[in-house]
Parts: sequence; C-alpha cells; structure tokens
Amino acid sequence: MSTLSPSRVFVIGGTGAQGLPVIRALVADGRYTVRALSRDPDSRRAKELLALGNVSILKGTFADEAVLREGFRHCDVAFVNIDGFNAGEKNEMYWAIRSYEIALEEGVRFLVYGNLDYGLKKAGYDSRFRTGHYDGKGRIGEWILFQNQVNRDRMGAAVFTTGPYMEMAIWPMTPMSPALEDGVLTWRVPLGEGAVPHVALEDCGHYARWLFDHPERANGMNLEVAIEQVAYAQLAAAFEKVTGHPARYIDTDLETYWNGPLRASAGRPAGYNADPTDKSTMSFRDNFTGFWNLWKHQVITRDYALLDEIHPGRIKTVEQWLRRQDEQGRQLGKGSLWERMQPENMQRTAPLLKLVEDRGQGAL
Ligand SMILES: NC(=O)c1ccc[n+]([C@@H]2O[C@H](COP(=O)([O-])OP(=O)(O)OC[C@H]3O[C@@H](n4cnc5c(N)ncnc54)[C@H](OP(=O)(O)O)[C@@H]3O)[C@@H](O)[C@H]2O)c1
Repeated sequence: MSTLSPSRVFVIGGTGAQGLPVIRALVADGRYTVRALSRDPDSRRAKELLALGNVSILKGTFADEAVLREGFRHCDVAFVNIDGFNAGEKNEMYWAIRSYEIALEEGVRFLVYGNLDYGLKKAGYDSRFRTGHYDGKGRIGEWILFQNQVNRDRMGAAVFTTGPYMEMAIWPMTPMSPALEDGVLTWRVPLGEGAVPHVALEDCGHYARWLFDHPERANGMNLEVAIEQVAYAQLAAAFEKVTGHPARYIDTDLETYWNGPLRASAGRPAGYNADPTDKSTMSFRDNFTGFWNLWKHQVITRDYALLDEIHPGRIKTVEQWLRRQDEQGRQLGKGSLWERMQPENMQRTAPLLKLVEDRGQGAL
C-alpha cells in the first residue's frame, strides 16, 4: 500500500463542513484525485469542489448499494463520513457497515472512516451520556477495526475520530452559538466546569491526508483528534484577548438551555430522515443532552503528544484558533472576529453545515 500515487479517492460527505477541507488537502498537490458523492451536483458546495480541479462528482445517495458500488469500484481508497443527522442512528449504522463491506468487495485498498467517540461505552454505559450521533458512529468505528484484524491485507482501514468543530462555537444556529448581550459576547451552555475537545476543521484536512499518505502505520489506527480540551471560560477569555472586546461563559442548567434558542427543534428527531414514530429515534433534546453531559463530565480526552508528532504545525490552543479566524476573516473581507459576531453580520454568515444550508431537508 505504499505506492498509492496518484490515488483515486471516493469521498462520502465531501460537500460537508468536514469533507471540504479534507478534499482540499487531498487534491492540493495532485497526488490524489477525488470522486465525491453528492445528492446534488448543482449545489454551491459541489461547484466549489469541482473548481478545485481533480474532483468529479458522483450523483446519488449513500443509502443505495448500487451507488456505493459505483463509487467504490472506480477508486483505490475512500473517505467515508456518513451523515447521521440525515439518516438517524439506526440507518447510519446500517449504511456505514454496508459501505465498509462494499468497499472491500469492490477492491478498495484503504478506507478511512469518519468517526465520533463511542461516548456511551467511554462513559461506562451510563445512559446519561447516550448521544445517538456519537454512539452510531463509535460502534461502527470499533466494528471496522475488528473486521480489519482479518481484512487488513486485503483492504486497510483507519478510523478518524473527530469531535465538535471549533467553528460551531462562533457560527450561528449551532448548539453552542454565542449571542451578543449588552455588548458582551455570551455563551450560555450546560457545560459546568467541563471542557469540549473541539476540532479545527482546517487540521482535519492534514490528518486525513496523513492517514492516506501513511497507510502502513495508519492501518488499524484510531486517530482521535482535537485542538485541546476547551473550557468555555477559557474560550471567553481567549476571545477577549484576541479581539479586545468582552466575552463571558454562563453555565446554564439543561432546562433553561432547552427553553432557549433551540426550543423549537428540541422535540424533533436528531436525524431529519429518522422515523419519528420509531422508539429508537432520539429527539434532538435527548441526543444533545447526552452530548453536553459527555463534555461536562470530561468523558473524552485525546493523546495530544501523538497529535503533535503527526501534525507538528497543528492548532494547539483555542486562542491560536481564534487568532487565525480573526486574521482569515479580515483577509476574506468578512471583517474582524468582533465585527463578525455582530447580530446583523451573524445573520449573513454562510452556514457552516450543509445541513443548515439545506434547512434540514433532503432525501435519504
Ligand atoms: N457538526 C459537528 O461539529 C460534527 C463534528 C464531527 C462529526 N460530525 C458528523 O459529521 C456528519 C455530517 O458531516 P458534516 O459535519 O460535514 O455536515 P454537513 O456540512 O451538514 O454535510 C453533510 C454531508 O453529508 C452528505 N450527505 C447527507 N446525506 C447524504 C446522503 N443520503 N447521501 C450522500 N451524501 C449525503 C452531504 O452531501 P450532499 O448534500 O451534497 O448530498 C454533505 O456532504 C454527521 O454524521 C455528524 O455527526 C459533525
């Protein structure tokens, strides 16, 4: 698997917040060409991918064996991020398993599975920590590594475990969006004294690329990434330092949190195509209650020394990440970070998640 050059990569989730930086990193130097799956090749994001060069789009859904077969058959390696916020936990697990099986059958040589922590297991199977969009991925991440013990010479596999994007903490319409209250940027979230191992999207590109570039070492690896454990008092202090404007974190009990801006979505299924009458379907509220409990009780940590070794230039602190956002925003003509947090500018911000751009609609 060492002579993969140039490799054709089949990407599921390529038009998403995570997929975009991954594909950018893959095609940056011509070593990889990408075939990205999308239900809508005419979307703004699909066109953005095509403009990179060395990218083609396969129209279709991951919830269709014929489409998966078509995508995997013509590629050497694959990056698979199945959208649980579309499929819901049960369907996500089924299609993730079928993706692995079909990739193997169709001769893919190396597969990277876009994963999240198996939080329930890491919390000792305590249901306060049940988070469908984490457990649905995490179980399959373990299953893939288990299959890989016997399949590793036929198709190598690595699990790429991310976490809440750092961007989510400054973007509108996320579970951790801040609001400007009396001139103070304010995060009201149920985090207590806990911390979130937030992930820098731009570093996801580097890590995914590293996994494909080092298949011998990556085969069988679960690469769990983050910037650092971000306490929100620390986030607010870093924001003040970078922008010179006031910010604060207010620990908020779950009842108050769910009566806030997310109230309208609290009762909806966590996956927009999950069956609301199926008793296994978690509501947005139940799902994200488990999510906050994971961070509040610091269930999930990372091996930061390993990340420093794999990506010495990685973003290592939330302050560094905010400083980059400030600089990049100015360069792109969006204004300073502080200006971007003004309500009228927040409203104009292009959505981070394609899910939000599509208003939580679309086919499975
Ligand atoms: N939000 C976070 O902080 C975070 C962090 C880590 C991991 N995740 C996980 O990442 C996944 C979502 O990816 P994202 O964060 O990049 O979100 P996103 O920006 O909303 O993108 C969703 C992606 O999934 C694709 N997709 C959705 N349904 C599809 C289907 N039926 N067939 C083919 N492609 C489909 C979309 O492609 P088209 O619309 O072009 O078809 C798009 O590329 C979720 O499972 C989520 O749990 C989220």
